[in-house]
Amino acid sequence: MAIQLIGTGSALPKKIVTNKDLEGMMDTSDEWIYTHTGVRERRIAVEETVISLGTDAARAAIEDAGIQPDEIDLVICSTITPDCPVPGCAPNIRRNLGVENAAALDLNANCTGCIYSLAVARGLMETLGFKTALVVGSDVLSRITNWEDRGTCILFGDAAGAFILRRSEAEGVLAVHIAGKSDVDDVLTCDWPAMETPFSGPKKPNNEKIYMDGHKVFSFAVNAFIETLERSLGEAGIPKEELKAIVPHQANFRIIKSTARRLDIPLEKFYMNVDRLGNTSSASVPVALDELARSGRLQSGDLVMLAGFGGGLTYGSALLRWK
Ligand code: ACO
Repeated sequence: MAIQLIGTGSALPKKIVTNKDLEGMMDTSDEWIYTHTGVRERRIAVEETVISLGTDAARAAIEDAGIQPDEIDLVICSTITPDCPVPGCAPNIRRNLGVENAAALDLNANCTGCIYSLAVARGLMETLGFKTALVVGSDVLSRITNWEDRGTCILFGDAAGAFILRRSEAEGVLAVHIAGKSDVDDVLTCDWPAMETPFSGPKKPNNEKIYMDGHKVFSFAVNAFIETLERSLGEAGIPKEELKAIVPHQANFRIIKSTARRLDIPLEKFYMNVDRLGNTSSASVPVALDELARSGRLQSGDLVMLAGFGGGLTYGSALLRWK
């Protein structure tokens, strides 16, 4: 059975927070942030939520795909910052879209969430017969960002991206690789708030905001990125020279530059929006893919590699033949 990615969409919060704005909040500078991360500004949700952004991104993807919402029979929402546990974000997005009947689930694989979601959607389409899947990546990281930690808060932003997968005659998903390594050193962590019950007694507050050992995450990210790219290319039997574009997780432009150099792939092939949006976790890859698709730079038949890495430690990639 063949599957194709037939539409993309994205949605951004209205509020823009620049590095200059952060200079007024902490001891940092636009120059330090830009030279160490590539970020100039990020979007921060004020009124928007994971569900509202996810719904807007989904609507854009549905329109781009030229389908009706009720053709969707599977909805996956990748998020690490869900608005609520019951019902999950995916069932809420399904309801907002006016879809009456579709399986819907939330998925948390940190910044690799949309690649994992693509793998899960493909597996469910193959084994359980779903025909049209909506994958949404939506995160409001500003909720769990430690705004007093200048080493991490400068990296993150809020956004949502989405894509539609459909059964097709021609194969559009040529390879998918998902993997993980245990985070034995706790290099990237964030807990729920302390959850007391009448039976647990008082609990100490947990680490409710993102903690990251930037150096260790950096070296994991570059190695994972290279390994997963090579695995997907190998599975499809396609040389790297044939890639038209690579859409990486937008964590830090130095990670992307290092990867490009070590793989000997021209940097121009890596799509980047980290300067405008920072790291938006689950939304990062689908928003970048949507921007690339709408820029008109992709032609039918082009080979596009999606790649992600993040907490867990998760990593993965997907090789697409463009619709
Ligand atoms: N402004 C000014 N100075 C700063 C800032 C800041 N915002 N942050 C740190 N510094 C200072 C440090 O205190 C340190 O000062 P010192 O030498 O006096 O101690 C100096 O700058 C250097 O700090 P480093 O941590 O060594 O800076 P580095 O160049 O490693 O950059 C960064 C830090 C940007 C976090 C980098 O390590 C990184 O990007 N790591 C990868 C993180 C990542 O990509 N995570 C995402 C993947 S997973 C996910 O998406 C959740």
